[in-house]
Amino acid sequence: AAEAQARAILPRLTLDDKIGQVSMAHVFRFTEGGRSAPIRADADATFRALRPGTLLNGGGDAPQPNTPRGWADFLARLDTLGRANNPQGLPAVFGTDAVHGVNNVPAATLYPHNLGLGAAFDPALTREVALATAQDLRALNMGWTFAPVADVGRDPRWGRYYETFGESPWLVAEQVEASVDGLQAGGVAATLKHFTGYGLPSLGMDRANAEISQRAMHEVFLPPFRAGIRAGALSVMANSGSVNGVPVHASRTLLTDLLRGELSFGGLLVSDWNDIERLITTYRTHTDLVRAAAASVNAGIDVYMVPNSVEAYQNALREAVQTGLVSEARLDEATLRVLTFKALLGLLDAPLAGSGVLNDHRDLARRAAAATLTLLENPADTLPIRRGRVLVTGPAMDSAAIQLGGWSVNWQGVGKGNVPDVPKVATLAPALKATAPAGVTVSALPETKRPQLLTAAKGADVIVVAVGEAPGAEWQANSPTLSLPDGQITLLRDLLATGKPVVAVLMAGRPLLLPSDVQSRLSGLVMAYLPGTQGGAALADALYGRAGFPGRLPFTWPDSLTQVGLWSDRPAEGAGETPLPLYPLGYGLDYTTSVARDLTVTPGPDGVTAQATLTNTGERAGTVTVLLRATLPASGALQATSRPVGVLRAVLKPGESRAVQVTVPHERLSSWVGDAYGPGTWQLLPGTYTLSAGDGKATLTLP
Ligand code: IFM
Repeated sequence: AAEAQARAILPRLTLDDKIGQVSMAHVFRFTEGGRSAPIRADADATFRALRPGTLLNGGGDAPQPNTPRGWADFLARLDTLGRANNPQGLPAVFGTDAVHGVNNVPAATLYPHNLGLGAAFDPALTREVALATAQDLRALNMGWTFAPVADVGRDPRWGRYYETFGESPWLVAEQVEASVDGLQAGGVAATLKHFTGYGLPSLGMDRANAEISQRAMHEVFLPPFRAGIRAGALSVMANSGSVNGVPVHASRTLLTDLLRGELSFGGLLVSDWNDIERLITTYRTHTDLVRAAAASVNAGIDVYMVPNSVEAYQNALREAVQTGLVSEARLDEATLRVLTFKALLGLLDAPLAGSGVLNDHRDLARRAAAATLTLLENPADTLPIRRGRVLVTGPAMDSAAIQLGGWSVNWQGVGKGNVPDVPKVATLAPALKATAPAGVTVSALPETKRPQLLTAAKGADVIVVAVGEAPGAEWQANSPTLSLPDGQITLLRDLLATGKPVVAVLMAGRPLLLPSDVQSRLSGLVMAYLPGTQGGAALADALYGRAGFPGRLPFTWPDSLTQVGLWSDRPAEGAGETPLPLYPLGYGLDYTTSVARDLTVTPGPDGVTAQATLTNTGERAGTVTVLLRATLPASGALQATSRPVGVLRAVLKPGESRAVQVTVPHERLSSWVGDAYGPGTWQLLPGTYTLSAGDGKATLTLP
C-alpha cells in the first residue's frame, strides 16, 4: 500500500522535484542560529528553492531548541513550512542520531552505549531500550533515527568502537535485530549503519581504508546487516570509508550487487555526511561533482546527506541526468524509495503531531546500565563493599561527560559545542554517598586536591577510583595507544602506593591497557563501558552488593597493542601457538559462581538446539551467562578454532539449577566457501560440528 501511494505521486514530479526528494539538507539552512532556533524569515523561500525530501540535524553543534516541547514545535513548524512550500505539498522527513537514546535534547534519557548493551547479552533489553527511544523520538516529531550501528567492532583503537555491540558478528546481529524491532515497533524508521566494512579501518583510524576478503565480508561484516534487513529495517546508511581501495560511496559492487542483490534490501539507502563531495576532496577518485554524483547514485545511493552545499549537489545531479550519466529511471527509483519511506511512516497522510512530552525512562536506563556492568578483578573479595570508610575519587566519579561519552547532547559529548547544559545524570560519587548501607561512610575528593586526597586515602578502608576517557566521537575519539591519560595512571599509582585496597571503575568505550604494575595491584576492576544517564546509580548498587555483575565482555581484551586483532573467532596460529588475551570474549566475574553441565545438541529444521543445565553454585542470586561456541567441519580454508554462536543465560537463585536452551540458526553455523580472491557461496558445510559451553562439549553431524 505504501509503495502504491508513492507510485501514484511519482508521475506528478518534475526533475527538480525528484532531485529535491533525494537531497538531505541540514536544519541550519532554515534557522537563525542560537539556542531557541528561530526559523529564518526566508525559510519558505529556501524550502521552495531546495524542495528537500529529507532533513537532519547531525550529531549536534547545530542551532537547536533545547527543550522537548521546543523540539516538537520546531520540527512541526518546519514540517508545515516544508509542505506549504513544496510544489507537490510533500513533507521533508527528519532524521537524527539517536544512537543511545535521544541525542541533542538534554532532558532525554541516555542509555548505555551499544558496547555496554553488547555486554548484557540480552536482546530483549536492547529491544526495550530501542522501543523507549522510539517513544521519545515520536514525542519530539522525530520519525527517523540513524541507528542501530550494525558495524562489527574489530579494532578497539577505532573512535567508533563503543558504538558497536562488540566484536562477534553473531552476537552483534542478535542485538541489531532486537534494536530494529524495538525502534520500528515504536513507529520510528531504523537505519542500519554503516554498510559495510566500517568496523575494521586500517590502524583503527576512522574512515581509513579497510582490507576485507570476500570471506571476512560474509562471515564477519554482513551478518548484522542481514539480521537487520530481515527485521525489516527501513533504511541503510553507507560506510563513509573505503574497502579494498574503493570508496564505498562509489562501489556498485557493495551498494547494489551485495546490498540489493545478495541481501535483498528494498528500503532507502542514504549516504553519510558529505561523502559524495569527499570522492573528490578526500579520496580523489573523481574529478568533479557531476561525475562523483553520477558514480554514487549509480552505485546505489538514494539520498545524499549534503549538509553544506545542497545547491551544488542538486546542480550536479541535474547535469548528470540531463547528460545521461544518470538515467531518469535510476532517479525515479531513488525518488520512489524516498516517497515509499515517507508513506510507511505515515507522513504522507498527516502532519507531525508529537506531544513534546518525554516519558520518564530512568528505571529502564538504570536496569540497562546494571545489566552491562562487568567485574574483571576482585582477587581478595574487596567487593562488595559492606562496611568501613570508602574514599571515592577520579575524573569519572562525577562527570556526565565521561559517563555518557560521545553522541550525548552534542556530537562530541556533553560540554562541547554550543549546548553547554549538562543533563540530570546520576554519577558515581553522589550515588555512593546517597545510598551507602549502614556501616559504610563515604567521602569524595577530586583527584586535583592531591595532598588532601593522599591523607584521606591513608584513613580509608577502600578507595574507589573512577577513571575514564574524555568523551568523543568518530575520528576525534580514535585511541592509537589504548591508554588512559597519563594523569590517571599516576593517580592510580599514587593511591596504590598507600597500600590501601584500590578498586578501579573504568568508564570507557573500549578495552584500555593498564600498565602491569597498576593492573596487578588492583583490588578490584570494574568495566562500566559508557553507562548512560543512570550509570552511577547502577554502579553503586553493584559495588555495595545490592546487585551483582551480570555483564560479560563483548570483545577480546588485549594485553598489549600487539594483540589488537586477537579476536574470539580467529583461526589457530600457523606456528601452533595462539596467544591468550588478557580477558577473552564472554569473560566476567560475579558475586556468585556457576557451572554449565550436560550440554546436548539436537539438529532441527532451522538450526541446532543446544541445551545445558546451568547451576548457580554460589551463595547469591545472579545472572549466569555462558558463551556457546562452535567448531566447524574442515572446509579446505582456515576456520576459526571455534566461533561464538550464542549464549545460554538464566537468572538463578543460590543453588538453583535450570535446563536452558538456545537454538542456533543454521546461518550462524554457515561459512563462505570459495576461492580467496574470487566468487564463493554461503554454505552450511556437511560434517561434524562440535559445540562447547563452559567445560561441556557435544558433537553432531549435519548432512
Ligand atoms: O549518522 C551519522 C554518521 O554515523 C556519521 N556521520 C554523520 C551522520 C549524521 O550525523
